[in-house]
Amino acid sequence: MRCFAFLAAVMTTAYATPLAAQLGSRPADEWALTLESGRRMEALEIEEVVAQIGLRPGQLVADVGAGTGIFSVPLARAVSPGGRVLSVEVDRGFLPLIGAKARLAGLQNITPVLGQFGDPRLPRADVDFAFVHDVLHHIDQRQSYIRALASYIKPGGSIVVVDYDMNVPGVPHSNQPEMLISPDQVAGWMRAAGLEMTREVGMFPDKFFVIYTKRP
Ligand SMILES: C[S@@+](CC[C@H](N)C(=O)[O-])C[C@H]1O[C@@H](n2cnc3c(N)ncnc32)[C@H](O)[C@@H]1O
Repeated sequence: MRCFAFLAAVMTTAYATPLAAQLGSRPADEWALTLESGRRMEALEIEEVVAQIGLRPGQLVADVGAGTGIFSVPLARAVSPGGRVLSVEVDRGFLPLIGAKARLAGLQNITPVLGQFGDPRLPRADVDFAFVHDVLHHIDQRQSYIRALASYIKPGGSIVVVDYDMNVPGVPHSNQPEMLISPDQVAGWMRAAGLEMTREVGMFPDKFFVIYTKRP
């Protein structure tokens, strides 16, 4: 099973409550080492996950809770030419790391965005895809966050969620019920925000990968 006891332990220590999870208790530079550890990077299957979304050149993507931007770069390539990625973070320490990653990759279509805990504060409301990878369980008010996020999605656009499934024994945060979410909960939050499931990707034994689309 692709879940990491060490990552769970580190995150358990760092994040005692969902609110603390959002505030973060470690500097971004230090947190980045965990997010980009070799074992995590290998298990994420980044290229395959991005390929499964089915992005097209010219589209606008929001990478919500982008961290160091490890997904922002392949997302930005997938929407090139003509597309853009808005890489949203609440931890401002990540923003320069995302910018540096974009420069290193030679990409000019990644815009770091400082979001708020309850609202991604995107500069545009015509987003084709919001990508929420390993983030939703860190957010405190999930239903209202999904509603806020949905307000930036254009009709026919989608929200993609990849996260640990609380129904699978041993997933990270197993001992922190407040940091566990299920596909059924996500379905309820999406329904309340006016989105319906259009695809479910079965890539991971311990994570769900779902795509919800806003009614046109
Ligand atoms: C486990 S990391 C995942 C980072 C990245 N998506 C990845 O998979 O590598 C969770 C990230 O979500 C961010 N985050 C937490 N709450 C957030 C919120 N309300 N809005 C935006 N980002 C948030 C954290 O700062 C952290 O960088």
